[in-house]
Amino acid sequence: MSFPVHRSRRLRRSEAIRKMVRETELSAADFIYPLFVVGGSKVRQPVPSMPGIYNLSIDQALEEARQAQSLGIPAVILFGIPNHKDARGSSAYAEDGVVQKAIRQLKKALPALQIVADICLCEYTDHGHCGVLTDQAVDNDATLPLLAQTAVSCAQAGADVIAPSDMMDGRVRAIRQALDEHRFESLPILSYAAKYASGFYGPFRDAAQSAPQFGDRRGYQMDPANVREALKEVAQDIDEGADIVMVKPALPYLDVIAKVKERVDVPVAAYNVSGEYAMVKAAAQNGWIDYSRVMLEVLTSIKRAGADLILTYHALDAARLL
Ligand code: PBG
Repeated sequence: MSFPVHRSRRLRRSEAIRKMVRETELSAADFIYPLFVVGGSKVRQPVPSMPGIYNLSIDQALEEARQAQSLGIPAVILFGIPNHKDARGSSAYAEDGVVQKAIRQLKKALPALQIVADICLCEYTDHGHCGVLTDQAVDNDATLPLLAQTAVSCAQAGADVIAPSDMMDGRVRAIRQALDEHRFESLPILSYAAKYASGFYGPFRDAAQSAPQFGDRRGYQMDPANVREALKEVAQDIDEGADIVMVKPALPYLDVIAKVKERVDVPVAAYNVSGEYAMVKAAAQNGWIDYSRVMLEVLTSIKRAGADLILTYHALDAARLL
């Protein structure tokens, strides 16, 4: 395979030939677009650390979702910002919770759009942790029934996919059992299987007002240094009933995405998280990088690594270019 018999540049001579031999093709159909839903109406409150992203009341979320659908994006994932927070995160599983209401209205207005319900307590607890506390520590087993209840309430509201992001052990099994008991045996689970304790979630915690009030999440989210542990988490979640597994964040963990993709036969999702988005937006606003080009390069790299689905705040911007 040596020069001059082989010249790699032959297949790079024009966009037409480059397109013919391109290995990875990004498409709007790959994206899941996150929405932050708040109470009230006509609210479109910008998230300062995420230019282009807003806290949206349900009517506005509906407009945003309609846009997404018209651009060919098949799904949105919902995060709720409740009026009321307490120690047990009760707004997460309230029948009239902001996410439950949003699911009902979105499903009614846009029946074909897939609604992914993020299942976690951190946006709903006054202490900001992803589970309930016993003696100031997150109590794994006491949290499971509340996560299951949250999942069932989102299913009853009409969610199409249930996506637990809390990182409690055994939550996929607990949720699967509860869904089945309530006759939602056909509803798929997308588990945040390998979710790392990451500094890249900073802007999300501003948007969702979900920063922990003491300590951090290292007691349940994964150590960024580990990759074999990710494979174990993924295997465990599939064993418990996960239909799709996710790696999160995406860009600093492309190796993890690639390894997971090699190892499993279920679809793999990756979450291009808030901090990844903020970095690209900030550098672009400073004129230091070309936004469209870098965004598409980032998303392509995540797909090339092995992601079948990409959760990304760039979804609308990217879909407009594709
Ligand atoms: C937790 C959750 C988080 C994100 C999605 N679900 C944050 C966290 O663990 O603090 C982060 C997503 C992002 O940064 O874009 N329920």
